[in-house]
Amino acid sequence: MRVDIISIFPEYFAPLEVSLIGKARHKGLLDVRLHQLRDWTRDVHRTVDDTPYGGGPGMVMKPEPWGEAIDAVVAAASAPPRLIVPTPSGRPFTQQVALEYAKEPWLLFAPARYEGIDSRVMAEYGASLRLDEVSIGDYVLAGGEAAVLVIVEAVGRLLPGVLGNAGSVTDDSFAPGAMEGLLEGPVYTKPPVWRGHEVPPILLSGNHGAIARWRRDQALRRTAAKRPELAARLDRRALDRRDREV
Ligand code: ADE
Repeated sequence: MRVDIISIFPEYFAPLEVSLIGKARHKGLLDVRLHQLRDWTRDVHRTVDDTPYGGGPGMVMKPEPWGEAIDAVVAAASAPPRLIVPTPSGRPFTQQVALEYAKEPWLLFAPARYEGIDSRVMAEYGASLRLDEVSIGDYVLAGGEAAVLVIVEAVGRLLPGVLGNAGSVTDDSFAPGAMEGLLEGPVYTKPPVWRGHEVPPILLSGNHGAIARWRRDQALRRTAAKRPELAARLDRRALDRRDREV
């Protein structure tokens, strides 16, 4: 997968050089290219923002540098990328959306600073590219860069070959399958007793069927306790069917 990121803080993306995503890049599974938005300004101050029409606090990102930057990146392409603009007013970014993005050959991110990007940029590219305005949660960040890091990590780990154990993806909270819609339950490793706390004996039983049922039960309990709104959305009949499968 190719990922392009246009930002006034390309250095913000240094974390993409380490750990799982860094390794995926070294293996050639992920090709990340960073671009400085200011390279597409034409004044000596390399200005990217201006005061909002209609008044109000803060500054708005000017459309011209964004237009030139996006055009330049897209021109290098054989097929147009999916353009992702992180914003608290976007559609929620979920595991479903991560799975959808993981199928794309190319993502282009346009993270904004200040009060956001002049809306005409979204009007322009909403017509010519597949544009997605996405929010990573109901809170306001200082800019979209941290949201891009979150999205690239969530999508990158889903790419074939990135995770050593493909099962980790299907066991994820929110992943489709037997655990769909459920939060992951507790996990344990050695030693069997630590500071008087024991590992649940069933996990040491070697009975794989009983362990799978216990894990699903734990996942259901945790979902009901921590995310009642998710538990309420679970489809009873699908749950019963999945119960018979485990
Ligand atoms: N930019 C600022 N806040 C954001 C959020 N919650 N999600 C995505 N982009 C953002």
